Formats: sequence, structure tokens, C-alpha cells
Amino acid sequence: MQGLKRLEYRGYDSAGVALAAPGMDKIAVRKKAGRLVNLEKEIQRSPLPDATVAIGHTRWATNGEPSDVNAHPHMSADGHIALIHNGIIENANTLKFDLQAEGYTFVSGTDTEVAAKLLGKIANTIITETGHPDLFTAVRRMARMLSGAFTILAVDSRQPDIVVGARHDSPLVVGLGKGENFLGSDVAAFVAYTKDAMELGQDQAVCITNRSVTVTDFTGHEITDSHRFTVDWDASAAEKGGWPSFMDKEIHEDPAAVADTLLGRFAENGDIVLDEVRISPEVFRSIDKIIVVACGTASYAGMVAKYAIEHWVRIPVEVELAHEFRYRDPILTPRTLVVAISQSGETMDTLMALRHAREQGSRVLAICNTQGSSIPRESDAVLYTHAGPEIAVASTKAFVAQVVAAYLLGLYFAQVKGTMFRDEIHQIVKQLKAMPKKIQWVLDTQSEVVEKAAKRMLNARSFLFLGRHVGYPVAMEGALKLKEVAYTFTEGFAAGELKHGPIALVDEGEPVVVIVPSARGRNTLHNKVISGIEEVKARGAFTIVVAEEGDPDVERYADMVFWRPACPTLLSPLVDVVPLQMFAMDMATLKGYDVDKPRNLAKSVTVE
Ligand code: F6R
Repeated sequence: MQGLKRLEYRGYDSAGVALAAPGMDKIAVRKKAGRLVNLEKEIQRSPLPDATVAIGHTRWATNGEPSDVNAHPHMSADGHIALIHNGIIENANTLKFDLQAEGYTFVSGTDTEVAAKLLGKIANTIITETGHPDLFTAVRRMARMLSGAFTILAVDSRQPDIVVGARHDSPLVVGLGKGENFLGSDVAAFVAYTKDAMELGQDQAVCITNRSVTVTDFTGHEITDSHRFTVDWDASAAEKGGWPSFMDKEIHEDPAAVADTLLGRFAENGDIVLDEVRISPEVFRSIDKIIVVACGTASYAGMVAKYAIEHWVRIPVEVELAHEFRYRDPILTPRTLVVAISQSGETMDTLMALRHAREQGSRVLAICNTQGSSIPRESDAVLYTHAGPEIAVASTKAFVAQVVAAYLLGLYFAQVKGTMFRDEIHQIVKQLKAMPKKIQWVLDTQSEVVEKAAKRMLNARSFLFLGRHVGYPVAMEGALKLKEVAYTFTEGFAAGELKHGPIALVDEGEPVVVIVPSARGRNTLHNKVISGIEEVKARGAFTIVVAEEGDPDVERYADMVFWRPACPTLLSPLVDVVPLQMFAMDMATLKGYDVDKPRNLAKSVTVE
């Protein structure tokens, strides 16, 4: 139950457990629709026996509505086997049809039940063939018959000392304990018990007992070189630690996420060293185009990267939503570097995009927050963000960490390619190192006005978010946050687009949030954004503005202001996004919504 609690952010529309112990005839199962707490109540009502092995699941429905019967685990027809599954089994209907023809009946609308019934059948065939149960072989045999994406775990009451798993295009990590072993969708499931973990490769199966871990491919060949790693964060990092919500805690970890992502990335002489990036400087020098692939918040971090890297390195950077990427036949060469940005490292759309890029001969570098996850594992190189575990479904601290990693990559490129003077790079690095304090300033001084704005806007039915240059992705991100957690219709767009259509949406009292660049440096940009504010104001908009401390023009036109401390324009997304994260959280909290687990969403989108 502790493990499930830590994984609940990945899906929370139903949950269930299955247990086995010596002497038990059938598997013991409890499952319930809704949050984990419903399952806990069910177990209190109908306690479970002691057990030696168990599997548990929290679900994000892909196939069959959230309900008690559709919740996992699902059982084999004879009740000996229980199975849980993540992903989508694409040939489930065909398999079901065949099983039905043999007399099998189904109670749920899930593809998972098909796998459970199929596994039960295979397991019994093996018993007939060999005279004894062999769940490991049965799971492998079944895995070879499934198409689509799956992580499957199963237990069998006839072998109450093992848990068997298999994965294809869906995550599974092994936790190596003392006298106990674990399997989890990510390390959060078991980090309270062990920090020693092992990656499981694509199309591999695993059998754990309390003392052993055996890994094979789907044909049964043993794999002995699985990569082991130590989880670099503590179980307490995945606890609320006194904060009202994970989102609140994680927004307040923005400064640390930035500082920690910068840590250990510089030589004594100030040069950038990206040790874990296993791409040689020669290859870096040969790169003539970068394509960032990502989804949602991570794609907005990619958009910030485009502005910074193009400016510093003078090579074209495209940013593409990962799910669109491979379907448009992108131009990829060995001189293209594809940068896949992902907090979870498991987003299926992003994973598919990077596979496509590698197939076409391009190199892929992952910017990722999760050790041992699929995206860094399948990339040529990785630059880890050190934001620590992000539990709230809405991404906050991971965004600032992704932006910092992208800056580091851009500056490293500039260093290797010689497109900037060393002094210039060192100057930006110095400014970057000053950003955590500036973010802290926003957290310390702006939270009251942000909350006031949220209270005032509580009944607003829609919002427009405007920004230009790096303020544009920040506007998109601010709009996404509000959609996700406060369920408000928002539209984020480039401020220059205003007159090309969206201004028609502005009516008396319409809230418009504007990111205003500093008047220093890029003055023309500043003036143009100010003109945009005037234009919406003239049409009755209520303007909430994110601007540099003491900007006199802003004072004149804004109804409410979230101030940022002065900082270079290219680095400003790191501070500008912070009040917008808080604003979305405050709106959701005031509306009484669960900010950590917004409806319909899940943290890792492991299906396409
Ligand atoms: C928004 C959010 C999503 C993710 C997106 C990509 O708050 O969390 O938009 O950013 O699903 O997820 P990762 O970064 O895990 O690939």
C-alpha cells in the first residue's frame, strides 16, 4: 500500500492488490474504483491474509471505464493467477474472440482481463506439458503473443514465492532489497525500502523471489548485464513534508531545482563540463541543426531553448510536439541533434519520436528527470535535470530544471563550436547561478498578490495569456497550468498575434495575463508588449502583468502586477513562470479542487 501511495500520481481512477502465500488455493484480491483510500477502506472492511508475494496497481483508464470490475488485478478463469497491466494490448480483441470461442467468459471491458485469462490458459498448458507450474515461462509465452505496449506483473497461488514481470514499450524497474525484492513502474514505488535499482530492457521478462532476480528475454535467454544504479533521492523527497500539496511544495522547490541542475557542471576554470553527455566534442561541432521533441510543459521548455540556443550558437533549432514529429517525415541527418525533453522519461509520444530519429541516423540527447527511465536509456546521451521527484501531476519544478538544462546545452555548444567568447559564456553562467535567489525572491514577495489575483478572478470563465519572445512559451505554460488544475478555458499565444484574431475574444472584464519583457536591452519588444496591453485594456480587459520590478509603463496599464527581479531577458522564463504556477495552484485550491491530482490526467503518459 505504501508503494501504491507513492505511485498514485501515475493514475488514480481505481486501485487493487493481489496476494499469494503458501497453502493458499486461490489468489486473494481486493480492488476498488476511485482513489487508493477507497481500496484501503475495502481492505479494512475485508482484511487480507498474510502473504509472501503481492502485486498492486493504481489505474489510469485506457480501456474500460473506471469501475470496481475494471480495476486491476484481473484473474485467470480458475482464480490461481492474478495479473496487472500498464499500456494497451492492441490485439486484445482478437485474443478475446479466440478465448471466447473456447468457452472463456469475461466480466470486464478491459484488455487486461484478456491477458489474465490467456495467461491462466498458458500456465495450465505448461502444467499439462511438464507436470509443474512455471509462471515465468508462461508470462514469456504470453508476452510473445501480445502486440501493443505493456508492462505486466503476475502472481500464481501455486508458486507463492515469485512475482513475474515483462515489459514492452512500457516501464518497469527492479528494486534490489535485502531478503526482499521489488518491481515498480518507477523507483518511487520502492525507494523507502531500497535505493539499489536495476533497469529492465525492452522485451525483457523478470522473475523475483525474496533472494533472487532473474532477467531473460522473451525467448528465455538469460540477461546478465542489466544496468544497476543507485537512486539519487530520498524517500522523504517524495513526501509532502508539511506542505498542503505536492504542487505547493514543488513550486517552492523551483530554486533548488535550478541550483541542483547547475551543480557539478563546471570545471575549475569555469568551463562547462557535461560528463554524462557521451557525445564527443567533434560530433558536437558537426551538428548543424537541433530538433527538440517533447510534449506539454516540456515542449514549452523546448521553445525557451530555441530562443537561447539559436542566439548563442547560431544554428537552427526546431521545436516539435513529439506526437506530430514522426508522422510528418522530418528531415533528419547524422548532423541533426534531436533533443528529447521529458520529466518522466516515459512519455510514449516522445519515446516514439526519438526512436524514429535514431532510425533515421540522427543522434538523440535526452533532457530527463528520471533515472533508469526509457527515454534516457534509449538515447545516445543524457543530461539529467536534478529537480528531484515530481509528484504533483502538473509539472512545475521540472520545467525550470528543463530550461536550465537546455541553457547548459546551448552554452556547451557555444563553447565547443566557439560561437561565443569564453568570457561571455562565463558571464551568462554567473547570471544563471544568480537565478535561484531571484526565484526565491518571487516566492517570498509575490505570493500574496498572486493569491489576491486568484481570489479576484475566481469566477472568470476564461483567460488569455500573452507573451513575446521567451515570454511566449511562458504564456503558453501559464495557460496550460490553469487549464490543468483549475479547469479554466485558457488560450496562450504570442502577443503579436493579438491583432490577427484573438483580440476579438476580449470583452469587458476578460482577464488577460501578459508577460512583459524588460525595458532594458530589448526595448522595442518591451514597447510592443506594452502597446498590446493598451489595446486589450481599451477593450475592457482586466490585465494581470508579469513585469520587471519598478517598470513605470506597467504601473500605468496593469490592473494587477506580479513583479520579477531584474534579470537577462533570455533567462527570465525561470522567474516569470513562478507566479503563474502559483496563480494556477491558488485558483484550483480556492475552487476546492485536488491540485495534485487533476481530473482525467496522469503523470506519465505511457500510451500514444
Ligand atoms: C503539464 C504536464 C504535461 C507534461 C507532458 C510531458 O503540467 O505535466 O504537459 O509536461 O505530459 O511529460 P514528460 O515531461 O514526463 O515527458
